[in-house]
Order: sequence, then structure tokens, then C-alpha cells
Amino acid sequence: MMIVHGGPMKIPVYFARRFVAGESALEAIEAVKELNKDGIVATLDLLGENVSSHQQADDVVEEYYDLFKKITDSGVKSGVSLKLTQLGLDLDVTSCVERMRKILINARKHNLFVRIDMEGSFYTQTTVDVFIKLANEFENVGLVLQAYLHRSMDDAKNMAQKKFSIRVCKGAYKESSSIAFQSMDDIRTQYKNMVKILLEGGSKIGIATHDDELINWTKAYVVQNRIPSAQFEFQMLYGLRRKKALELAKEGFRVRSYVPYGTHWFPYFYRRLRERKENVFFVLKSLIADK
Ligand code: FDA
Repeated sequence: MMIVHGGPMKIPVYFARRFVAGESALEAIEAVKELNKDGIVATLDLLGENVSSHQQADDVVEEYYDLFKKITDSGVKSGVSLKLTQLGLDLDVTSCVERMRKILINARKHNLFVRIDMEGSFYTQTTVDVFIKLANEFENVGLVLQAYLHRSMDDAKNMAQKKFSIRVCKGAYKESSSIAFQSMDDIRTQYKNMVKILLEGGSKIGIATHDDELINWTKAYVVQNRIPSAQFEFQMLYGLRRKKALELAKEGFRVRSYVPYGTHWFPYFYRRLRERKENVFFVLKSLIADK
């Protein structure tokens, strides 16, 4: 039985299997092959955040090199996602940027796109700054903006001006009301306004949500405003709303699944359980069903 590393408890990855594609890159690639068969592309994410040594951060770079090679060798349709704290942002910004540069150079050789996930608000400004620096040098990098943060509308305007590639999500961390909207209505309103600004500016965007209201709104908006299909895609997390993803793909929309894997899965798994009580039921149900 595999044991989680670095989590607050020792728990087998078995518990997280609905949301995590496995502990190894090869298991995750197999999951992507299945998605690709259904016309869904992917972004592979090596789970991990807040590394505590330069050695750990350097190891992550090597693991991404290895992943790029495996993506190319297997021929799967996938980009990658990562977190800056996985590359040592807590240790020092300069070496984190250098690691990102190495990753982007290597990804470019493989013709792969790298998306920088957005973490808790403590990291927002630095992540935006690092991204802008890199996006001025590389075309194969994108960022995530979180609709729950008050500041995100301004960030979206800045990103749209440069036509940078942005994934828009609601935001998965617990943030205070002084900096973040707390009601679903306010978050959805800002989400829609950000999408409008980004599309108008010519950014390529990912509509990262499982929320039917936002999905249906986007579908209507892109028709009314004649948005080219190459300018947007729907994105969902591995293991969530599989039928909906399939339905969208069958309707002809580009759909991407965020496929996380690795041994450091606990914080990601915990965020999924916290944001939706049904996710706790899924886990319990699958455990009972497998007995
Ligand atoms: P939410 O949980 O708010 O639910 C809203 C409604 O959607 C529900 O009431 C229901 O109607 C419907 N719904 C949701 N899930 C459903 C289900 N499983 N089955 C049926 N109906 C369902 N966050 C972050 O902070 N930084 C990041 O970098 C990223 N990256 C990211 C990538 C991708 C591809 C996705 C999809 C999400 C992220 N997130 C993220 C997470 C994101 O911020 C957010 O926490 C989750 O997507 C949950 O918000 P939703 O809008 O999906 O639905």
C-alpha cells in the first residue's frame, strides 16, 4: 500500500483515487489516454506545494523534464500545470524564476504549454509578477486568476492588454472578506466580468468550473459575441463531472481535464473535500462500493 509523503497524516492514496490519477507519471499518462479517447485534452499536474529546500525544488524540475519526455513519447494530448511554491517560491524568488525558465525552455523543445496555478493570496502579487516577467519572454506559459479576489478584475484587465493566456477559476483557498468575495452571486458576477474583459482583449482563456450557471452563460456569450472557438476552452478537474465534460466535448467544445498525480496529494485532496460536501460522499461511496 502506498503512503502519502509530507501530508499531516499517513493515508493511503486509495482514498483520493477519485480525484488523483495515481502516484506515478505513467499512471497519470494512462488516465490521459482514456480522456483523449473521449476527445478531452489534459493538463498534467505533479502534485506538490511549499517545498522546504532547494534540493526538493530542483528535484521537481527534473520530474517535470521527465514528464515532458513521457508526454512526447506517449503522444498524449496534454500540457502541464504547476505551482510556484513547488519550485521554491518560499525560499527565494530569483531561484524560483530560474527554475521556471528551465522548465519553460525544456517544455518549448517538446512543444508543450505550462500553466502556473494560483495559490493562496499571500502569493498572488509575487505570482503575477513572476508570470508577467516570464510571459514577456515565453509564449508557452499561462496563469490562473481567481474570481473571488477583489483585485482579480484589475489583474484580468492587465492580462487582457497583453493577450496573455489565462485560466479563470473561482478560487479554492479560504480568504478573508477584506480581500475576497464570499457570496456565490458576487463570485459568479466577477467571474463573468473577467471572462468578458479577457475575451474582448483577445486572451486565450480556460473556463475552469463545474458550475452549470457559468458554463451555460459562457456558451451563450460566445455565440452572441462570435468568439472564435480557438479562443476558449472548458476545463474541469479529473474525477469531477465526467458526464458533463463528455457532453461538452460532443457538442464540439474544446474540453481540458486537470489531471493531478504524485505522492504529495493530501492538500489538493483536502481542498476538493472542503469545497463540496458531495465530494466527501463520492469518496465514501467509492470506498463502500469497492469492498
Ligand atoms: P462550485 O464548487 O462552486 O459549485 C457550484 C455549482 O456547480 C454547484 O452548486 C453545482 O450546481 C455545480 N457543481 C459543482 N461541482 C459539481 C459536481 N461535481 N457535480 C454536479 N454539479 C456540480 N483554484 C485555485 O485557487 N487555483 C487554481 O490554480 C485552480 N485551478 C483549477 C483548475 C481547474 C481546471 C478547475 C476546474 C478548478 C481549479 N481551481 C483552482 C479550483 C476552483 O477555484 C474551485 O475551487 C473549484 O473549481 C470549485 O468551483 P466550481 O466553480 O467548479 O463549482
